[in-house]
Amino acid sequence: MFEKLLRIINLKTYYFSRKNVIKAVDNVSLDIFRGEIVGLVGESGSGKSTLGLSIVKLLPPPGKIVGGEIILDGENILKKTDRELRKIRGRKIGMIFQDPLTCLDPLRRIGDQIIETITVHLKIDKEHAREMAIKSLERVGIPPDRIDDYPHQLSGGMRQRAMIAMATVLNPDLLIADEPTTALDVIVQSRIMDLLEDLRNERNISILLITHDIALVIERSNRVVVMYAGKICEVRGAERIAVEPLHPYTKLLIQSIPDIEKTEIELKPIPGSPPDMRNPPQGCRFWPRCPHAMEKCKIEEPQLLSLGEGAVACHLYGG
Ligand SMILES: Nc1ncnc2c1ncn2[C@@H]1O[C@H](COP(=O)(O)OP(=O)(O)O)[C@@H](O)[C@H]1O
Ligand code: SF4
Ligand SMILES: [Mg+2]
Repeated sequence: MFEKLLRIINLKTYYFSRKNVIKAVDNVSLDIFRGEIVGLVGESGSGKSTLGLSIVKLLPPPGKIVGGEIILDGENILKKTDRELRKIRGRKIGMIFQDPLTCLDPLRRIGDQIIETITVHLKIDKEHAREMAIKSLERVGIPPDRIDDYPHQLSGGMRQRAMIAMATVLNPDLLIADEPTTALDVIVQSRIMDLLEDLRNERNISILLITHDIALVIERSNRVVVMYAGKICEVRGAERIAVEPLHPYTKLLIQSIPDIEKTEIELKPIPGSPPDMRNPPQGCRFWPRCPHAMEKCKIEEPQLLSLGEGAVACHLYGG
């Protein structure tokens, strides 16, 4: 059986303002196994980044984890001190983002930044750390002679590679990749995804791939987790969900993928828009946009129900 690396149990992460509360992650449970790529997908504002940031406890100020547990390798991250958390970040969990400049300092050479990441965590001399930095850059396809470049001297794709080198230099167990290829063109995007897959295959790293792009998660992940308005609506193997989506929202997401086989590109955007998270609909949060909505859906919230190898939260299933 596969080994569980990360367990998220009933996680609640809210943003508080004077007037209201945004329940950005509202009672979410999810396991990540060793060596698997989990694709977390949903429209903008569904809570994907908040979930990713909760795992490393790096939420921006009005954000607070108000309930639940996050267990990494048997230890509850939410019970750790700031000092312990700093050790976990980088060492056990690496993070990469859409914009490399959220991790890379534009005023410092990339090599120095990677060396610092190493020496903060490991007791080794600078020379040895530099060797490790060179190896990590080579691993992502950046030649050693670029180690003293500043971020702006690299192309967008190369900067993304440098960020991946920094995030993986200490061999973390988990890599959280939040929209890692959204700003890149298709060819560069595909090379970066190949690189992430290679890292997974070589090191048995688990990857949480966060994106709004359902086609990308179907192509590149083992399991797909669909999120809508702060809740998980479906979890299934990527191959299954592509041919047999269960949740009406997943079905619409898949129908919105442009069909490149057809000469006439027919885009079917999902009707309506995501709810105002300050005041989401009662019952199933998707009901105002759902073609199958029933009276029950407006009153009763559907629970995530295990179904075969996956799970779905919709009143159409489970009697
Ligand atoms: N710093 C913040 N302050 C207040 N609300 C926020 C903040 N960041 C995100 N939110 C709100 O939380 C919800 C989820 O956002 P986010 O996690 O960024 O979604 P996604 O990554 O899926 O686009 C949205 O309603 C968003 O407006
Ligand atoms: S619970 Fe009802 S409204 Fe929600 S997705 Fe299922 S059918 Fe649609
Ligand atoms: Mg996001």
